[in-house]
Amino acid sequence: MGVERVQEIANFSKETIPEEFIRTTYEQPALTTVQGTVLEVPVIDLSDPDEEKVVRAIVDASSNWGMFQVVNHGIPHETVRKLKEVGKAFFELQPHEKEAYAKSPGSQSIEGYGTKLQREVEGKKAWVDHLFHKIWPPSEINYQFWPKNPPSYRKNNEEYAKHMHGVVDKLFRCLSLGLGLEGNEMKEAMGGDNMVYLLKINYYPQCPRPDLALGVPAHTDMSAITILVPNDVQGLQACKDDHWYDVEYIPNALIVHIGDQVEIVSNGKYKSVLHRAKVNKEKTRISWPVFVEPPSDLEVGPHPKLVNEANPPKFKSKKYSQYCFCKLNKTPK
Ligand code: OGA
Ligand code: NI
Repeated sequence: MGVERVQEIANFSKETIPEEFIRTTYEQPALTTVQGTVLEVPVIDLSDPDEEKVVRAIVDASSNWGMFQVVNHGIPHETVRKLKEVGKAFFELQPHEKEAYAKSPGSQSIEGYGTKLQREVEGKKAWVDHLFHKIWPPSEINYQFWPKNPPSYRKNNEEYAKHMHGVVDKLFRCLSLGLGLEGNEMKEAMGGDNMVYLLKINYYPQCPRPDLALGVPAHTDMSAITILVPNDVQGLQACKDDHWYDVEYIPNALIVHIGDQVEIVSNGKYKSVLHRAKVNKEKTRISWPVFVEPPSDLEVGPHPKLVNEANPPKFKSKKYSQYCFCKLNKTPK
């Protein structure tokens, strides 16, 4: 098909990397990361019976960072381990086996195995390959994009999707209460039980020049929230007050990103986090974000209970599909 996978490029790149992967000095991680800092993305214990305390912690983190990690989240560690095991196994298959799931170039859908996501400024490339497919609700799933190999891929992904509902509900409830809304109102504004869970696997091969390249350039997620599990190779960075900070790897934690849709519904009280991913010289990094999204035809805008004459809406209401189209094609909002 002629698309070059970064995994293949990495096999030939022992000391240097092709020029199109070299970032400008404004982006190079070695030049733009705050070193040895004490500032850290908050870690929140979701099993704390003091719900008000959890709400306060989530409000703080979502307003100041737009990102936090959660521990004791209720998803069995074994379920997460099995999700990671089969995703890694897929990327370790021979190229022709992976290409069977390749996204077709003209396709409108984001699903499938692929290499390039955003159109990037100055034609720069990200050091990553990925696989996208929906995991919820069942009516939205296209199994043609789910690897048949390894054989337990489907079972393990279905199990993870099933266990996600508890965390998703808890997070939306806290985000909702934190705005002074009823517990269910934030979730309802995102489509309630019709919300879509879109899984992405990012596969960042080892890279001889992690100081010059990026796995994913700076962006905010379009989703409502994103729930990410990484492997044990640190690489995620969050931007706060114009500075880049490493997000610590905590075994068994989930990393929650506030996405653009929650920022919009909250009328700007919660911030969608600007983040990016570095790559590693010795190790392959892999991450499994799930983008929790409104259904594509749902109109999303600032919650009516949060706007009035003193607090006018800061965002236009838009169908989610329209929002994504505008952002990916960079047309003015
Ligand atoms: C993404 C993303 C970060 C990571 O895929 O949207 O931000 O840690 N990934 O892989
Ligand atoms: Ni992201």
